[in-house]
Amino acid sequence: KRNILTDSYGREHRYLRISLTDRCNLRCTYCMPEEGIQLTPKSHIMTYDEIYGIAKTFVDHGVTKIRLTGGEPLVRKDARIIMEKLSTLPVELAITTNAVLADRFIDVFKACSIRNINVSLDSLDPVKFGKITRRDFFDKVYSNIRLLAENEFNVKINVVLIKGFNDNEIVDFVNLGKELPVNVRFIEFMPFDGNRWKLDKLVSLEDILLNVSNVFPQQDIVRMEDAKNDTSKNYKIKGYNGSFAVISSVSNPFCGTCNRLRLTANGRMKNCLFSAGETDLLTSYREGKDISPIIENMVWEKAKVRGGMNTLEKLKEPKLHSQNRTMVAIGG
Ligand code: GTP
Ligand code: 5AD
Ligand code: SF4
Repeated sequence: KRNILTDSYGREHRYLRISLTDRCNLRCTYCMPEEGIQLTPKSHIMTYDEIYGIAKTFVDHGVTKIRLTGGEPLVRKDARIIMEKLSTLPVELAITTNAVLADRFIDVFKACSIRNINVSLDSLDPVKFGKITRRDFFDKVYSNIRLLAENEFNVKINVVLIKGFNDNEIVDFVNLGKELPVNVRFIEFMPFDGNRWKLDKLVSLEDILLNVSNVFPQQDIVRMEDAKNDTSKNYKIKGYNGSFAVISSVSNPFCGTCNRLRLTANGRMKNCLFSAGETDLLTSYREGKDISPIIENMVWEKAKVRGGMNTLEKLKEPKLHSQNRTMVAIGG
C-alpha cells in the first residue's frame, strides 16, 4: 500500500468521484448554461480501461469509495462495462443519476453491488420539472425512483432548492418519506460558471428547517446522527419510513471533514468541487508515467474551505466562478 492521500490540514481522502461524461439527457438550468456547453471530443475522454487504471491508483492510495457522476453517467454507451470493471476493485461503488435510464440498469447495479443510488429530482410538479430540466421526463423519473426503492436500493433524492421556484415544495418532499424509504436531501443552490446563481436565490439550512417546523410539531422532528464525512445534516419525522437532510455548502460548509477527490471525464483531477485548479492525469497516464506523485501533490495543495472561497463575500465573486467548470462538467 502506498501513502494515504492526506492534505496539509490532515484530511484523509478516501472518496473519489468520477465523472464518466459531460453529456446529459436533461438540461437543468442550475447545472448547465442555456446554450449548452462545448462537449469534449471523444478522444479526450477516458476509456473504460483508463478509468479503471486511474481509479486503481487511487485505490492503491487508500480510496475506499467511488461514486460515478456525469453529466449523466448512464448515457455513456459503455456505462455497464465501466461499472463491471470498477466493481472488481475493493471499494464501495455508488452512482448519482437523474434516473431517466435507471430501469435499464437495475440488474447491472445489482451485479456490481451498487447499493447507494442518489437521484436528482427538483420538483414533484411535472410542469415545474419540465421547466427546470427543459425535458419532459417526470413520469419516467418518478416511476424509476419507486422502482429503485422497491428493489431495496438505498435511495437518496437530491433536491436543489431555488427561492421562488421550488421552495414551496419543501413539505411535500418531506412527506415523500411518509411511505417511501428514501432520504430526501435539500441542497443549497451553489454558484458555478453559467448557472445564474445569486445569493438571493439561496434557500438556506435555516430557511428549510423553518419551513419544516412550521408544519410539523417540534418533538416529531428528530435530528439524526450523520455518517462520518457526510455532506448532509440528517433529520427524520417520527413515524416516517424515509428521512430528510440538508446539504449546506453555502451557509454552513462542511469542508473540515471533507474526504473527497474528483476526476473529470477527460481525466483531470480536482481536489475540491470549487477549485479552479486541475491536474491532467490522463495525459501522463497515456504516456505511461507514474501518476502517484501528481495525485499526492494535488491533494497536499487542497485549500481549507471551498477551493479558497472561504467567506460568503468570496463566494459571491462571479470572476471566481468563471474560472471553474460548469457543473455539468464536474459532476457535483
Ligand atoms: P453520498 O456519497 O451519499 O454522501 O453522496 P454525496 O452527497 O457525496 O453526492 P451526490 O452526488 O449525491 O451530491 C449531492 C450534492 O452534494 C450535490 O449538490 C453535490 O454537488 C454536493 N456535494 C457532493 N460532494 C461534495 C463536496 O465534497 N463538497 C461540497 N461542497 N458539495 C458536495
Ligand atoms: N448547486 C447545488 N447542487 C447542484 N447540483 C447540480 N448543480 C448544482 C448546483 N448549482 C446537484 C444535482 C445532482 C448533484 C450531483 O449535484 O442535483 O444531484
Ligand atoms: Fe470538500 Fe471543497 Fe466540498 Fe469543502 S467545498 S467539502 S473542501 S470539496
